[in-house]
Amino acid sequence: MTTIELPRTAARSTQLVAASQRATHDPFAEIDWDARPLDDHAYHLPPELLPLFGTAAWESMSEDERMAYSRHETSALLGAGIWFENALMQIVLSHLLEIPVTDPMHRYLLVEVADECRHSTMFGEYIRRSGTPAYAPDRPVMIDESDGGRALSYLLVLAIEEYLDYANRLTMRDERVNDLSRQIAKLHVLEEARHVSFARSFLSEVWEQLDATAHEVVRDAAPVLVAEIVSLAVDPAVYDELGIEDGADIARANPHHRTNIVAGLSKLTTFLTDIGVIDDAHRPTWASFGLVA
Ligand SMILES: [Fe+2]
Ligand SMILES: [Fe+2]
Repeated sequence: MTTIELPRTAARSTQLVAASQRATHDPFAEIDWDARPLDDHAYHLPPELLPLFGTAAWESMSEDERMAYSRHETSALLGAGIWFENALMQIVLSHLLEIPVTDPMHRYLLVEVADECRHSTMFGEYIRRSGTPAYAPDRPVMIDESDGGRALSYLLVLAIEEYLDYANRLTMRDERVNDLSRQIAKLHVLEEARHVSFARSFLSEVWEQLDATAHEVVRDAAPVLVAEIVSLAVDPAVYDELGIEDGADIARANPHHRTNIVAGLSKLTTFLTDIGVIDDAHRPTWASFGLVA
């Protein structure tokens, strides 16, 4: 492979390499880890983002218990974040084997892997300092590369990035939230903007080049894949640890949580509708999984 097959994405990659040169963030130089203890004098996520928010279980908690619960949910979300970043690094690294080094995508994707390495060390440092168990999804990283010219892989990447970005943006602006959690969220938002830009460019350009059969493969598989990702937002281990009976079931059924999922995915689902991955025939499937309203 010697020709550049995705000219728009190649040009975008060149821009993103330059942007990365201007602003790359080192969490162990830029975040003052000792400035704030990770205690329960503040929330660690905006309360409205917590899966139990608004339920009877939530109403029965004291303010201190809610803050402690938020610390555990933040660790679980960041543990899922490490899992997500591992999955997407595996996607990118196997993709890199097929990209000629002369294609600007090659350099940009290596920059992106380096970004994710720093992010995962940052998430890990929060978890180590938070006093919670090392929460992590207990399923293998499943990546289906079989059809669709890697469109599905990058759809998975984009879903993860847009979903976390929604929570990060609300967290970094929320004055009720522990300063360290806010700094982590802000650093992640700054660098993920580039990753989202790449994934959108790649996905839309590859999509245009796929035939009708491949389009159907992607359209059928996408909602299943995104539903799996979103299900990782509720970690049953949190409720076991805190002794909240049926907590995971209550969270999954919580209308407030379900509304948050739709909102958290709205940038993704709008984009997928615009490029044609979500069409009229498949929208009911997305709705049945609770991914669109
Ligand atoms: Fe990241
Ligand atoms: Fe990323």
